[in-house]
Amino acid sequence: MTQKSVVITGASTGIGKACALWMDRAGWRVFAGVRKEADGAVLRAEASERLTPVLVDVTDAASIAAMAAQVSAAVGDGGLHGLVNNAGIATGGVLEFVDLDELRRVLEVNVTGQLAVTQPLIPLLRPARGRIVMMSSIAGRSATPLLGLYAASKHALEAITDSLRLELHPWGIQVSSIQPGTIATPIWGKALDFAKDVVPTYPPKALELYGPLVEALFKSLPKNDAKGIPPEAVAEAVFHALTAPTPRTRYVVGQDAKVRMWLERLPDRLRDRVMLGRIPKYGGEGDGMMG
Ligand SMILES: NC(=O)c1ccc[n+]([C@@H]2O[C@H](COP(=O)([O-])OP(=O)(O)OC[C@H]3O[C@@H](n4cnc5c(N)ncnc54)[C@H](OP(=O)(O)O)[C@@H]3O)[C@@H](O)[C@H]2O)c1
Repeated sequence: MTQKSVVITGASTGIGKACALWMDRAGWRVFAGVRKEADGAVLRAEASERLTPVLVDVTDAASIAAMAAQVSAAVGDGGLHGLVNNAGIATGGVLEFVDLDELRRVLEVNVTGQLAVTQPLIPLLRPARGRIVMMSSIAGRSATPLLGLYAASKHALEAITDSLRLELHPWGIQVSSIQPGTIATPIWGKALDFAKDVVPTYPPKALELYGPLVEALFKSLPKNDAKGIPPEAVAEAVFHALTAPTPRTRYVVGQDAKVRMWLERLPDRLRDRVMLGRIPKYGGEGDGMMG
């Protein structure tokens, strides 16, 4: 039987690492995308010899081309069976004051980067009728205050996922999106560090107007790590998307994500009222709707 193979980007930590180790344990040949050799070495030590770290920054065309060439040479005519576009960043800010370069940055990593990696790998996926999995988020269906930039990037990724699934239908290449809720990974600590750096650069007027909302974000982000479910819950969904005879087009992972999905089915005004009720500025407690 042919050895099945998968490329997973952003495998240094969190969800990507959990997916890489899960697929390795399932007997697949994993090409684990990392940006630092040291992260690749750590992953190698935890996995079987089948796992190969590959250096790839999804915003760097040369590194993507080199990774695609390396994978192509390794899989040969049999092709590639899976691509998990997982690399991503979380960011946010008050939309009235946010630096527009921050929007460009998150779109570059979370949207353009995913397609940039996918393009050169599609010809490898074709012979194997491989599958593509996009690591979206419940934020790809549900936008909350202060995380509008992140939600915009994940909504865009959902659109790319749907178009790609239709375009690749003739070759039997399935495309799924994963929509996790809050998962315990380093992403939330990184987002908090970013917020702590950027908020002091806002004009005083911004804090006068949005102070309580920003405070709520500062309180809510650290809680995300504690209340998040383990990244293996996401890896299990990715495994299903890569191996089930009929993969789902979307996987909502986590109870909080399911509640958010339910909320998004309400009429907009009612949905807004529920969200506003969770935000301190408007009398709520500031929990649950900020992540
Ligand atoms: N954690 C959650 O609650 C949650 C919920 C929904 C969706 N997600 C999504 O899940 C994915 C993984 O996030 P995570 O929670 O596991 O966070 P994480 O632990 O911070 O992992 C993010 C990964 O992306 C990589 N990355 C960032 N920028 C990159 C770039 N330009 N090129 C290549 N790799 C890059 C990071 O590499 P370095 O280590 O080199 O920075 C890291 O491996 C993201 O797409 C995120 O949006 C997470």
